[in-house]
Amino acid sequence: MAANGKPKEDWDPRSEDVLRDQRAAYDEMRERCPIAHSEFMQWSLFRHEDVVRALRDHATFSNAVSRHLSVPNGMDPPEHTAYRRIIEPYFAAQRMDAFEPACRKIVVELLQDALSRGETELTAEFAIPFAVRVQCAFLGWPPGLHEPLAHWARKSHDATLAEDRHALSELAREFEGYVDELLEARLRAGAVPRDDVTAALMHEEVWGRPLSNEEVASILRNWTVGEIGTISAAVGILAQYLSQHVELQERLRARPSLVPAAVDEILRIHGPLVANRRVATRAVEIGGRKLSSGDRISLMWLSANRDGRVFEDADAFRLDRDPANNLLYGAGIHVCPGAPLARMELRVVMEELLGRTARIEPAPGKAAVNAVYPASGFTSLPLSIRPR
Ligand code: HEM
Repeated sequence: MAANGKPKEDWDPRSEDVLRDQRAAYDEMRERCPIAHSEFMQWSLFRHEDVVRALRDHATFSNAVSRHLSVPNGMDPPEHTAYRRIIEPYFAAQRMDAFEPACRKIVVELLQDALSRGETELTAEFAIPFAVRVQCAFLGWPPGLHEPLAHWARKSHDATLAEDRHALSELAREFEGYVDELLEARLRAGAVPRDDVTAALMHEEVWGRPLSNEEVASILRNWTVGEIGTISAAVGILAQYLSQHVELQERLRARPSLVPAAVDEILRIHGPLVANRRVATRAVEIGGRKLSSGDRISLMWLSANRDGRVFEDADAFRLDRDPANNLLYGAGIHVCPGAPLARMELRVVMEELLGRTARIEPAPGKAAVNAVYPASGFTSLPLSIRPR
């Protein structure tokens, strides 16, 4: 304990050292101080075992981390269960199959541009535009929103890192503004559920009444964050990993059926999502540390999925690992509902990227730049891509 009665700081998640290479810093923390306290995050759980414990015990480790409405991310049962029931069908297999051609068209258009130049800064020229365009196509939103959404996602990232609560609530309002316009346009047009996903959500009911605009906006905001933040990071991580492992490119080109398992394994080694939050509902001891009721907790996905206690030789790419241990999409009642969409999108990106290139390599003389918390992946990823 420090003199002021607060737990002593074990680390600084925003120090330059940590931000420069989050994965290396978290690997070090997992071994040195697996349940660590900091002013910024309060408690961080770095070990696989402790993260799984929190996921399984949602009565003690609650998702009600914020005063603001967050559907369904910020909810516990029974509210959570009611909203999950509405959301899950939107990611059903038939919907994903129906959406795949539109998704592939976006990938091909964006790749053709990059291939014609032979070199690309993949984050700005492919990963972010891909995520934004796919999101709008999936929800039935107009292309005019591509740029504002990309800008909104950048501002959200900066406000989270700066812990700027005022900016974050302004951003939530800005997003509600976009959604209000989209909903009004559909109301004016008398849209029916089959018109698009946004119109369908407007007609959903919870507790025997229609979803409010605020609830629809919150659902869509959480999908947008999943899509734009996490998918764009995942695309960069996959492309960078391929550029560093030419033999894996060749193996996957020869056997494309390995792509889905390869995607999950690469993203286990280098996670696109850093952390999610919980709050303790009672005093609880974990790994010898005493947490009080009301304490905030971060589940450090990026670290848990690299825990050598569960993944032997954790940095090695191996397709024979038990997929049940991979926490890429979480586990338990909050497991990612968007995983079927994410898996389809990332498979299509990999199929086209590998199928249309002879070789993907780091661009000579240009270095990749790591993204910083709360993002993972790369803010800049210069690659040389040779067409077939
Ligand atoms: C590679 C891409 C993605 C990864 C790695 C990922 C990962 C995750 C993880 C680990 C969780 C659990 C969070 C927790 O336990 O607190 C989660 C939840 C969630 N994800 Fe994803 N996600 C991805 C893409 C998406 C997409 C594309 C969408 C929607 C379009 C989405 C929507 C959500 C939502 C709404 C939740 C909250 C679920 C709940 O609280 O019940 N995600 N995601």
